[in-house]
Amino acid sequence: MRKEAKTNMSLTTQTVSTPNVAIKKPKIHVVSFGCQMSFADSAEMAQSFLNKGWASGESLENADAVVISTCTVRQHAEDRAMSFIGRLRVWKKQKPNRLLVVAGCAAQRLGNKIKERFPHVDLVIGAKSIESFSKIIEDVLSEKFDLVEENASDFPQTATSSQGAACDFVTIMRGCNYSCSYCIVPSVRGRERYRPVETILEETEAKIAAGVKEITLLGQTVNSYQAEYQGKTVKFPELLKILNQVPGLKRLRFMSPHPHYVNKEMIAAFKNYPAVCEYLHLPVQSGSNQILKLMRRNYTRELFMDKVRMLRSEIPNLVLSTDIIVGFPTETEADFDETLSLIKEFRPAWIYSFKYSPRPQTASFIESPDDVPPSVKEDRLARLNDLAREIGRQSLQRKVGETVEVLEESENFGRTRDGFKVKWKGGEKSIGELHLVKIVEASDFLLIGEKTK
Ligand code: 5AD
Ligand code: SF4
Repeated sequence: MRKEAKTNMSLTTQTVSTPNVAIKKPKIHVVSFGCQMSFADSAEMAQSFLNKGWASGESLENADAVVISTCTVRQHAEDRAMSFIGRLRVWKKQKPNRLLVVAGCAAQRLGNKIKERFPHVDLVIGAKSIESFSKIIEDVLSEKFDLVEENASDFPQTATSSQGAACDFVTIMRGCNYSCSYCIVPSVRGRERYRPVETILEETEAKIAAGVKEITLLGQTVNSYQAEYQGKTVKFPELLKILNQVPGLKRLRFMSPHPHYVNKEMIAAFKNYPAVCEYLHLPVQSGSNQILKLMRRNYTRELFMDKVRMLRSEIPNLVLSTDIIVGFPTETEADFDETLSLIKEFRPAWIYSFKYSPRPQTASFIESPDDVPPSVKEDRLARLNDLAREIGRQSLQRKVGETVEVLEESENFGRTRDGFKVKWKGGEKSIGELHLVKIVEASDFLLIGEKTK
């Protein structure tokens, strides 16, 4: 697998574009760095502008306001966001009345230091304030821009990638109550906050109405979700039950679950609710009990593998993937061997692998020097990825000859229910349609098939 590979907390840069429904409205453009959560946040922030009568700007050039959703989970992610902000100096100089908002996790961590370093930034809004984003920007917008009639369009707009998309995300909770020693998320996102079931249902239904067929529920530890609904407490498996009943929802996924909340009820959901897909991303981080302890993961390798066995015995066709960090402080060659042996035992279909990145204010940053040399981290990452690629290749090879259900996400491209990427020949472009595709070939990360109907 690639270095610093794409993950649930991936480092892709994505832009959200929304329909341009009127000519003279100011335009909002959103750029997001980091994970799917950051992407989902940026869609929500764009929605705040649309609700105030703004239109979508398809590019930086035609935008009157730009919101950058930043990430800080690894230093590299933060650096990329900062260098992008730096490059917007010219954009701002071209039209000084433009609005530049920096939001998200790096904004939370760095606060006003961002404005000191980049005076062309107008507003910094940290990840903990995402829920109040709409209120926060209200005054700035009315000061800086002519008032546009709220909700001025004739039809509802969604700021999500829903427009014409087959798959979309719904955030069900924010924050994290864990305290993994390497992780900056609890400090920048705060403790767990759950969105009400009613809001989750509403958003899911709106997305389905816009044509979405597959929803991925998002949360830092998504399966610790709980909320009061109709007089009782709804836990995560019950939320899956409720969403499974939404008409038109063909596929339901979620990420990322914490192993601690993988229980009988959650496992039963895969069997009982047909929309729930047979794929699970279950981060393990290391195969060494000593390192897991230092990481404060609250499980041992044996406990983790018990959960994996439980999952596989109940759902034999379940496909699993995971996250691994290499080079955590004090990680020896013997510890790393434990990680390799865990991967051999666990056999995930693919992994997302990262070199340990010390994050300010985290327990491991404060307590332990970053003592694994960069070249050793690099070497371990490469060896881990080689092993994972080999195991992954075997999972892909097993699919050859099978006829699988694929949801078309872009022309002649989609994913199986169990998460494999598929490209196929033949057939008209029909985004959002389910197809049966016969797999004829497998490469390292992709299945190649032919449409059967
Ligand atoms: N260094 C490297 N990887 C990290 N992750 C989280 N924090 C760090 C860090 N400080 C990885 C973990 C997590 C994923 C989202 O990012 O593997 O599961
Ligand atoms: Fe970070 Fe651990 Fe919370 Fe995941 S569970 S967000 S790794 S603290």
